[in-house]
Amino acid sequence: MQILTTKAQLFAFQRTGSVGLVPTMGALHGGHASLVRRAREENDTVVVSVFVNPLQFDKLGDCEDYREYPRNLDADAAFLESLGVDAVFAPSPEEMYPNGQAIWVRTGRMGEGLEGVTRPGHFDGVATVVTKLFNLVRPDRAYFGQKDAQQVAIIRRMVADLDLPIDIVAVPIVRAADGLAESSRNQRLSPDERPQALQLSQALFALRDGATLDKARAMIDRLDYLVVVDPLTLNAVEPDQRPALALCAAWVGPVRLIDNLELS
Ligand code: PAF
Repeated sequence: MQILTTKAQLFAFQRTGSVGLVPTMGALHGGHASLVRRAREENDTVVVSVFVNPLQFDKLGDCEDYREYPRNLDADAAFLESLGVDAVFAPSPEEMYPNGQAIWVRTGRMGEGLEGVTRPGHFDGVATVVTKLFNLVRPDRAYFGQKDAQQVAIIRRMVADLDLPIDIVAVPIVRAADGLAESSRNQRLSPDERPQALQLSQALFALRDGATLDKARAMIDRLDYLVVVDPLTLNAVEPDQRPALALCAAWVGPVRLIDNLELS
C-alpha cells in the first residue's frame, strides 16, 4: 500500500483497471471498513483519501472542533492496509488549498436544511472538497455511508448537475441487533443512555410500519427533527408518498445522533 501526500505523487501512482475512491476524514472505524470492503469487491484499484477538510468546519477550520478532530495517520494506514487498500491519499491543507479556495461548489437549498441548519456552509465545504478529490483521483466509483443521507443526496445531485462521470455508491447503514445505527458517537453513550438512543431507530421503524409522523415524533424525547423527504431532492413530502426517506436527529445525553430509513 502506498501513502501519497502530494498531488504529484497521486498523479504518478500506477493504477490498473477500475478505480474506487473512499473519501474519509480519518479516525477510521468499522463503518469505514464496510465502505472500503465494498470498494475492494467492486474495483481493481482502491484509493482512500484521509483529509480533515477545514472548509466543512465552522469558520473554515478556525475552530476547536477542527483543531481537536482526531488525527492518527499511522493507525489509519495500518487499518487500511489490513483491508487491502492500494493507496492512501493524505494531503496537508496547504497541499489541498495552496491558494485558499476562492471558487466553491454551492449546494443551495439542499445544503441549508436538516443538518445544514446547525452547520451553515458545511455542505458547501463537503461538495467543494469532494469535487477536488474526484478531479485528483479520477475514480470510476466513489463510496459514501448512507448514514449521512443528506451528504449522499447532495453528492448524487452534484454529480448529476455537474456531469461528473462517477458512480456514487451509498453503502447501507450497519445496525446493531437492537436497531441502533453504527456510529463512532455511540461510544460516548453511557450504558444508561444507550436504551434512549434506540428511540431514533424505533421511531423510524414505526413510521415505516404505518405510524403517523406526530406519533413517531412523540417517541423521541429530545428530538431535533424527524421529517419525510423525497430521496432525490430532500424536499418534504407527505408521509405516505413512496419512495421517501425518513431522516431524524436527536440528543441523547451529551451526544447528537442522526439516523435515517428508506420508506419503500
Ligand atoms: O463524510 C465525511 O467523512 C466527509 O464529509 C467527506 C465526504 C470525507 C468530505 O470531507
